[in-house]
This record gives sequence, structure tokens and C-alpha cells, in this order.
Amino acid sequence: MTFNSEFIGLIYLDSYDWLSVRTGFPMAYYDKIAEKWHKVTGHAGGSFKKHVLNERILAKLPSLQGLNVLELGAGNGYFLPLVIRRFSGQMAARIVVTDVSEKMLEKAQKYFFIPDAEYLRLDVRSVFPFDNDSFDMILSTMVYNEVSTAGMKRSLDQCHRVLRNSGRFIVTVTHPAFIANVLKRGILKKENSGILTLPTTTGLRLPLFVRSHAEYDKLLSSHGFEFNCEDVFPTKAVLRDKPGLVKAGNVPIAVIYDCQKSAVVQQEHCVRSLSRSEPR
Ligand SMILES: C[S@@+](CC[C@H](N)C(=O)[O-])C[C@H]1O[C@@H](n2cnc3c(N)ncnc32)[C@H](O)[C@@H]1O
Repeated sequence: MTFNSEFIGLIYLDSYDWLSVRTGFPMAYYDKIAEKWHKVTGHAGGSFKKHVLNERILAKLPSLQGLNVLELGAGNGYFLPLVIRRFSGQMAARIVVTDVSEKMLEKAQKYFFIPDAEYLRLDVRSVFPFDNDSFDMILSTMVYNEVSTAGMKRSLDQCHRVLRNSGRFIVTVTHPAFIANVLKRGILKKENSGILTLPTTTGLRLPLFVRSHAEYDKLLSSHGFEFNCEDVFPTKAVLRDKPGLVKAGNVPIAVIYDCQKSAVVQQEHCVRSLSRSEPR
């Protein structure tokens, strides 16, 4: 019997667990590449984020004043300081920066430290240590494309639980059209563990779970989210920095899902809470 990564995902394992099993250490994949990741992506997350993606995500954020903000898979933590700068003069009530990789969290605290923020090692596939309805904004950039479908489902349940009814959940993933393109060009590699990895122009290989646009849509909507999507294409400046991307042709690199709890689910929740609080 051969185990593929999705099967392993079903029993709550994916790339990170495989590495732990193989190395004998409870080590996340990014623990091994944290140093290089920070070196090549730096203060803006790399060329694509610097020239396009950061601004597109920032443009979707409503404000910061008094909000409780959670970032999942924050990496070296470069993004939230950009948010704070964008809303200069506003004060969040609570900021929680998380990642499954201890080493990435160390980078975040060393290079992008936010006074009063909480830094927490958190696997998005686990039960979040937060109360229901705790956050007004949850950010997750380029994380779910590295998480198995079983893991993503558990994570979406948790995000739905901890997000307030009025909250926003901004999810960005590698665009399925871009993944389809690299699949066609045969440049994904199946590691011995069964995990697929995507080569980057910086020499790093990143874990990847292949998922179609329709699958992402369905995962989000079946977990109680409604959303708007935006495709993000590379600009000329990105192609100048990363000429290898020209080979992909005119395909978007990322898709941003701007999610809210769906009104129907909110109504059901409201009816449930009402009936619970009614005297017997
Ligand atoms: C491609 S990097 C993106 C980092 C950051 N969000 C950014 O945009 O620069 C993916 C990040 O997700 C984290 N990650 C991957 N799987 C995770 C999981 N199961 N739980 C939490 N974080 C995870 C990795 O450790 C890594 O920091």
C-alpha cells in the first residue's frame, strides 16, 4: 500500500509531520529554511508581495482601531508592521502573531517585533487556544496551499469559531491556475515523503497541496464563509525581478479570498443562541 500526502492528511499528518517522523524531531519544515527564507524574502515578503500582493491585501483591510487581529502562518512576520503603518495613529486592541515554525516566530520577534503583540506557536490544523468570537480580523497569506485538505477543514472550523460575526478573514493562496501551469511544465517534485514541492526562483522548494479554484471555493463556503475573490497577476517589476515567471505566461500568481461569515450561518447561530437562552 502506498501512502500519498492526502491520505496521510486524513489521519492528521502532512508535510510537517512527515519531516518530524523522518528526522525524529518535532520540527516544522520552515524551521530548516527559516534563515534562508528571511534572507530572500526580507522586509516585504519578496518581489511579488513587495510590488503587488501586499498592497492588494492592505487595500482590503477596513481599519485597525480597537480590533483584535490574528495572523496565521505569519512567517517572518513582515506583514503586520505594514498594516500598523497603513493605519498609523490607530491602535489594535489585540494582535496575535502565529506560525507552526518556532524558528519563523523567532525571526518575527527579532526583525518585526510588535510591542504588546502576542507571539504563539500554532498549527493551523489544531484547536485554536482562543474563545469563540475573539477576533475581528484573521489573516492567512500563502499558508493553506501548504496544508492538506483534512487540515484545512479543521482550520476553517476554528477560524469560523473564533471570528466575530462582523469579522473579516483574508485568505491568500497560490493561484490554482499558476499551479496548473507549473504542473503542466513538470517542475513540481515529489519528495520521498510523498509531498509535492514547488521550486522558487530563490532556490527554496516549498511544500504544496494541489487544489482547484472550485475546491477552495467549496471548502470556504461549506465552512460557513461567503467571499469575494481577486486574482493577482505579476507586474512588469515582478517579472523583471523574477524573469523565470515569464515562462508561466499570463497567469495569476495568487488569489485573495476576502471572507466573512455567511449571513445564513449567522442567522442560524442567532436562532440557536436565542432558543438556548429562552426560559424552559
Ligand atoms: C509561504 S510561507 C508564508 C509566510 C507569510 N505568511 C508570508 O506571506 O510571507 C508559509 C508559512 O506558513 C507556515 N505554515 C505552514 N503550515 C502551517 C501550519 N500547519 N500551521 C501554521 N503555520 C503553517 C510556515 O511555517 C510558513 O511560515
